[in-house]
Amino acid sequence: MKNGKKVLAETRKKRNRPVPGWALVLLAALAVAGAMLTGCGSGADNDGQNAAIAPSHLYMFAPLPTIPPATGVTALRVDLGRRLYYDKHLSENASISCNSCHDLAQYGVDPGKAVSLGHNQRPGGRNAPTVYNAGLQFVQFWDGRAADLAAQASGPMMNPVEMGMPGPEAVLASLRSNQNYVKQFKQAYPETKDPVTMANVTGAIAAFEARLLTPSRWDQYLAGDTNALTPAEKQGLRVYLKAGCAACHAGQDMGGNSYQKLGVYRNWPDQETDTGRMALTREARDRMYFKVPILRNVAETGPWFHNGQVKTLSEAVRLMGKYQTGEQLSDEEVNSIVSFLHALTGTIPQAYIEPPASDSAAASAAGKGRKTQTTAKEGE
Ligand code: HEC
Ligand code: HEC
Repeated sequence: MKNGKKVLAETRKKRNRPVPGWALVLLAALAVAGAMLTGCGSGADNDGQNAAIAPSHLYMFAPLPTIPPATGVTALRVDLGRRLYYDKHLSENASISCNSCHDLAQYGVDPGKAVSLGHNQRPGGRNAPTVYNAGLQFVQFWDGRAADLAAQASGPMMNPVEMGMPGPEAVLASLRSNQNYVKQFKQAYPETKDPVTMANVTGAIAAFEARLLTPSRWDQYLAGDTNALTPAEKQGLRVYLKAGCAACHAGQDMGGNSYQKLGVYRNWPDQETDTGRMALTREARDRMYFKVPILRNVAETGPWFHNGQVKTLSEAVRLMGKYQTGEQLSDEEVNSIVSFLHALTGTIPQAYIEPPASDSAAASAAGKGRKTQTTAKEGE
């Protein structure tokens, strides 16, 4: 497993970077799985190319958690978070909402856009990642500059090329001007005297986002249903493992667990436009390090890469082979991996993402007459 070793060496060199300890365990597990795949296994995989890879051998992966439906005060926070998520009033000129760039009906991205247009149609510098399953990641943003969903959520409101609000006070003033909102905050945060705070705004959005999960056939496979993947997808999984993709893309999210250098086996051609974590830490050794993105729903979240410049999934896979694993993948291998990646496309929780019924009316009435939405039957 030279690929695993190279990455491991990279990881060791960077002892002081926050790679979780279990990432090393994962690499060890990967080496074992690799040995099994290359044929020295005990015979469990000897039934031909399309035989199932026993889920018990896939311990570097994990199915999505099942979160019970929200109840009580949590349900009220989720409802509030959903309303805020869809609310354009959190932006300057009431022009865009979180959903404008992370369309929940479109797998949580801005489909087809390399970079999103923010407030006043100004383009940002990076591709909008999906919000589905995002809460499972070890940090947020391509460079990991936010620790979690709540820390992330205040960013876009005040970002001049996103929602463009001048500051937190402007956001809170807009919310306080609406009596129904104030009421909803009071219900969701009953213990607080003045609950319309930035911490509660971002906390509610995070409570809503944390339940944006998209279980797929991959989860059924990992749970033991070996027929959940087609023979072509199983073959793709085999190639994925053999090529060493799981050294970086594993765990519950098939990514989102570590920072890795873009360009492990050879330098990524563009070392200047976006240096990844280096722009944040100002440390030369962080040049071109990015958070490994989630591969769940990746077939639906293009265009790909941090700048959205890669236009097909097969091109993304081919580049990964060349730059991240040192493998010149054949067209057949690329296609095979792509078919496996399609099995990671999950089910959008339609009832859960239903926008609050009164929001369009509220938008035209400038915030008057909003009604609270009940989540009694929601939250799968
Ligand atoms: C103008 C488009 C735009 C708007 C509006 C917007 N985002 Fe984003 N979002 C982005 C972009 C672009 C990134 C990636 C930026 C980066 O990594 O530097 C991002 C990153 C994220 C991430 C991190 C995902 C990951 O995998 O790292 C989350 C979560 C998120 N946004 C949620 C939200 C929420 C919640 C709102 C509303 C409060 C919002 N976004 C508003 C464009 C937008
Ligand atoms: C050494 C770690 C590493 C390995 C090994 C690796 N990747 Fe990646 N992968 C990354 C990083 C980092 C990115 C983000 C690149 C960027 O946009 O800056 C990425 C991005 C991707 C993307 C684009 C995702 C998106 O939302 O834009 C796909 C698809 C992908 N990888 C698939 C694969 C496949 C398939 C393999 C095996 C052939 C693989 N990767 C091997 C680290 C790795």
